[in-house]
Amino acid sequence: MSMPLEGSHFELWSNVQALPESYVFPPERRPGTDEILASKDIPIIDLEGIDGPRRFEIVQHIMKPSQNCGLFQVINHGVSRDLTDQTMRNFQEFFTLPAELKARFYSNDLNSSCRLYTSTLNYEKEDTHYWRDNLTHRCHPLEDHIDHWPENPPDYRNVVGKYSIEARKFLLTMLELIGEGMGLETGYFEGELSKTQLVSVNHHIPCPDPSLTLGMPEHCDPNLISMLQQGDVCGLQVLKDGRWIGIAPLRDTFVVIPSLQLRVISNGKLASAVHRVVTNSKVSRTTIGIFLTPSNDIEIRPADGLHGSLTPMYRGYTYKELFSRFTGNDCDAEKALGCFKL
Ligand code: OGA
Ligand code: NI
Repeated sequence: MSMPLEGSHFELWSNVQALPESYVFPPERRPGTDEILASKDIPIIDLEGIDGPRRFEIVQHIMKPSQNCGLFQVINHGVSRDLTDQTMRNFQEFFTLPAELKARFYSNDLNSSCRLYTSTLNYEKEDTHYWRDNLTHRCHPLEDHIDHWPENPPDYRNVVGKYSIEARKFLLTMLELIGEGMGLETGYFEGELSKTQLVSVNHHIPCPDPSLTLGMPEHCDPNLISMLQQGDVCGLQVLKDGRWIGIAPLRDTFVVIPSLQLRVISNGKLASAVHRVVTNSKVSRTTIGIFLTPSNDIEIRPADGLHGSLTPMYRGYTYKELFSRFTGNDCDAEKALGCFKL
């Protein structure tokens, strides 16, 4: 049964036979047992030849899902299989370390430099908890943050450091392509708009009853852009035309989500996927998320120079303001963004 550590939001489970009451959702919010459609409708973008004549075509391929369900998959992304595998292995090993070695990272403080917690940022206030542990820390610039990272597994800092650099390159390339599709000048998203980089790793141990609970709530990501490296276990779902669609993990493939700040900067042209995570009863699931976020005090508003005419849909605000609305609204990013709609 659950043994929350004193003053922390990290639950240690041993031999959970039944889903604890605090994880059972009311019937209308349960994922249920309906069969979920497969992800064949979710485009896979091939970045091969991105610096040659295919570039224009690739931009068009990316813009379609970015304006439609707000999520797509990418192959030939430039990050080696060796590095993606090693990184996944390090995170998986981290989560299976004995509790004593993880204890120093358990924290309720949102500003903690490296934080391990259960459920969501909102653990204390939420009616029902999610079946999820999460490890999160900043990862850019590396030298400002790496000393706060786990030292165990012994390769963690080296491998996650390399991965952070490669993931950043990849996400900046995605932003560049999306910027081109929107008619923005080269380098528009570089600098303050994409300054903060977080790694956020979800870990879901096998769940006694996946039909009663969720691994992550239905949500939109509040940041600028997200990438996910799924392991080999299903769980991620996206809402498309009113139905949940499972995004089965594909080898060597990243999932990319243009998040809510891109919706604002594009003046509502880009969509941001509504997604959630379901659990399973058989195996642990680990997913690596890398999030780029504007720095706290830079003004965010619809970009000048977008294709098409422009009546701004949002007033300018800072990410700090948005984030405070986010935590004040049960981590509902959509609601938070509503505060800045014109
Ligand atoms: C997230 C997220 C999905 C996953 O961390 O915001 O949506 O598959 N993760 O873990
Ligand atoms: Ni998300």
